[in-house]
Amino acid sequence: MDELDAHLTEAARTFGTPSYVYLTDAIDQRLAEIRAALGPWFALSYAMKCNPNPGLLNWLADRVDFLDVSSIGELRLARQAGWDPARASFTGPGKRDTEIAEAIESGIGELIVENLREAIVANRIAGDAGRAQDVLIRLAPSHVPKGFGDHMAGRPSPFGIDIEDAPDQLPEILALPHLTVVGLHIYSGTQCLKPEAICENYRIFMSVFRDICEAHDITPQKLVFGSGLGIPYHAGDTPLDLTAVADGIRAELQAFCAEPRFAGTRLILELGRYLIGEAGYFLTSVVGIKESRGQRIVICDGGMNNHLPASGHFGMVIHRNYRMHRVGGGTGEQKVNLVGPLCTSIDRLANAVALPPLAEGDVVAVHCSGAYGLTASPIHFISHAHPREVLIEGQSLTDISRDGSMKLPPAP
Ligand SMILES: Cc1ncc(COP(=O)(O)O)c(C=O)c1O
Repeated sequence: MDELDAHLTEAARTFGTPSYVYLTDAIDQRLAEIRAALGPWFALSYAMKCNPNPGLLNWLADRVDFLDVSSIGELRLARQAGWDPARASFTGPGKRDTEIAEAIESGIGELIVENLREAIVANRIAGDAGRAQDVLIRLAPSHVPKGFGDHMAGRPSPFGIDIEDAPDQLPEILALPHLTVVGLHIYSGTQCLKPEAICENYRIFMSVFRDICEAHDITPQKLVFGSGLGIPYHAGDTPLDLTAVADGIRAELQAFCAEPRFAGTRLILELGRYLIGEAGYFLTSVVGIKESRGQRIVICDGGMNNHLPASGHFGMVIHRNYRMHRVGGGTGEQKVNLVGPLCTSIDRLANAVALPPLAEGDVVAVHCSGAYGLTASPIHFISHAHPREVLIEGQSLTDISRDGSMKLPPAP
């Protein structure tokens, strides 16, 4: 058994299934790769929407520079996990006034203003508190290159200020007396595996940043490049070549940073899945097997309720199986449908996936599950026990489950 499977076996034996396992060595390795390829230009901001587990957040606090939260709930979790709000930014197109107020009172580093309304509200709240609030203005470019799994710009979208509206709206924001515009923010596309598309997107960012800063005479302290770096979820996906991204954009980034206006600017890569996704596995055990009209259906203890994206209902148009394996290996292959415990036919983890023959009690590990796994799943549906979460640091396993996960009684 290889080292990974030894860890997964121990986690399943100690904490049971369904469970999520996060390997810190894999995150450390990914961090090193990112710093080596893009570190000369970029600081890193972890978008905690992809995995808000407090144990993981706490582990990350000394390892990444900044944090991006997208709700006041996330900010509270981050604070509980030891993050100083001054290192956090707050994105999201639907911030309520009460959230803006709490973020400002908490000392949030920057509010990412996505529209004029938010800016006006933040200005009033900051003014009432007798302070100035740092903000970044989120912009929505008019174009996103082909190759991104989801687009937040380049078409009608709720995210940020469309660049064609910037000439009207930015002067109004810049004139608000209790806001200090310290920079700009773009996050326009996600889950991209093509280096050339990512480079092209960064070129668009630089061009927008240049034009807007020049037009409104902004000398930014920070510019956020929403990364869009993708991970290989499915068999046949080619992992992103980060060195190719760096090689493709190095000269232009260097030239950009050398421009007098940007000489003192901190460029920030805001990312989630690329950092955490491949370091996480979802473990689910076989509860029963049914031969049904020529198909072998393997029923597991955790399915769509624990891992919505693997079931194909989180932004996937056509369901493609996540990469997965039988923990402990095995010889031979059999095509099976892997389903969860819910009373709905959409609770499918995999269709016709080839795995070694499975039997009751076997554990299947679903790969690429560190990001948008548990946090993106309808865990209350049908009131099954919530999955546990386990952090593996070297040889040590820690239960980092959030409140609400319940241990099932031991098997009789
Ligand atoms: C504003 C913003 N920042 C960061 C992210 C993180 O994206 P990813 O996990 O793909 O890196 C997202 C994802 O949707 C986002 O909307």
